[in-house]
Amino acid sequence: MKFYIETIGCQMNVNDSNKMAEILLEKGCVSAQDMLNADIVIINTCSVRFSAEHKAYSLLGRLKEQKEINPNLVIGVTGCMAQYASKEIKSRCKYVDFVIGAKETDLFSQTISKYISTEKNFEANKHKNNEVFRYITIMRGCSNFCSYCIVPHVRGPEVSIDYNEIIREIDKAVNDGAKEIILLGQNVNSYNYEGINFTRLLQKISQSDKVERIRFMTNHPKDFSDELIKEIAVNNKICRHIHLPLQSGSNAILKAMNRKYTYEQYETLFNKIKQSIPDINITSDIIIGFPGETDEDFKATFEASRKLQFGGLFIFKYSSRPKTLASKLKNTVPLEIIKKRHTLLLEDSNIISKKINEKYINKVVEVLVESFENNTAQAKNSQNIKVFFDTDNNLVGQKVNIKITKVLPNSMSGILQ
Ligand code: 5AD
Ligand code: SF4
Repeated sequence: MKFYIETIGCQMNVNDSNKMAEILLEKGCVSAQDMLNADIVIINTCSVRFSAEHKAYSLLGRLKEQKEINPNLVIGVTGCMAQYASKEIKSRCKYVDFVIGAKETDLFSQTISKYISTEKNFEANKHKNNEVFRYITIMRGCSNFCSYCIVPHVRGPEVSIDYNEIIREIDKAVNDGAKEIILLGQNVNSYNYEGINFTRLLQKISQSDKVERIRFMTNHPKDFSDELIKEIAVNNKICRHIHLPLQSGSNAILKAMNRKYTYEQYETLFNKIKQSIPDINITSDIIIGFPGETDEDFKATFEASRKLQFGGLFIFKYSSRPKTLASKLKNTVPLEIIKKRHTLLLEDSNIISKKINEKYINKVVEVLVESFENNTAQAKNSQNIKVFFDTDNNLVGQKVNIKITKVLPNSMSGILQ
């Protein structure tokens, strides 16, 4: 049987999709090129913004037609939307075979077995030979309750995973050939398992000789300790990239968002990180159009972006989510204004990111090669910037030096040295 998994949303979902793929391969299924060729389709959903839910429902609409042609098609819905809206999915899409929420991923193996006609037992390791990085989830859920965010309501309170289990998973990953470990959690820097905090966890992981690079995301500014900054500065296995969501440059909005820091506190932390780790790339998230956001509030965000000069900025239009405190606020910002502010900030931040990348022109950077197709390799430098270069050889998994010749806001290209 051929399977196809469509992943919507964050790296946590990508990781869960990888795990589901592994299970399907172990059971003797093969991966399909696209959704229309598959016998099993899984939609791994996200609920952080309305647009993500809309995408899931439109994919499910297409699958309805496919199931009318092929009644044996198996359709599964997993992830965050499946967690909190399973009733709605089942009633709106009666042709869906199963719904498994983000907190019930353990049920996937036994559920999917019911639909696989000729189950065999395969070792699924073959597909992993080319894997360069592996996601490792170190915590689940979130207890921060930012007022706009659905995650704590869907995924439940923050729970740190047993550190012995994390180390076992990492050992497995590097033995399978992974060079880079990407630690995932809604708020990784507040990790704490029986007194092992995030800094200690990073120290333990870097003791493994086979781990070449460590990344992590995402961080909450309120939990970013001096100890952690020091560890990153001295530990050369930890990549020079920190994703540090600011969300807004206005103190009134930050307060209404329940972010628990002021813009000034964020700026102090930002500067401390930059001074302690000079080659660090700091990226951020911004939400435009939180209820009550005035022109002045937006101006503060725009100016923060200019002042801080992020290496990359992810700008989201505010989306009202069920169960959240912000969804009860009345003073919503009209979509037209949100769109205008979004465009203004996006254009300005792209100019900034490109300018920041320009410092690499004619410099040689070390990159880890992730993929190779049509004589073009895609790699990443320590700062998490994508680097493309031409080569005749498949260098996947190797670290090579590239002289940068061209930069864009989110990627660069150059010549293999
Ligand atoms: N609307 C818009 N953006 C949101 N995010 C989280 N919730 C919402 C929402 N309701 C953004 C935040 C977060 C990122 C992952 O998604 O910026 O950091
Ligand atoms: Fe959502 Fe805030 Fe938790 Fe991030 S820290 S998942 S934005 S509640």
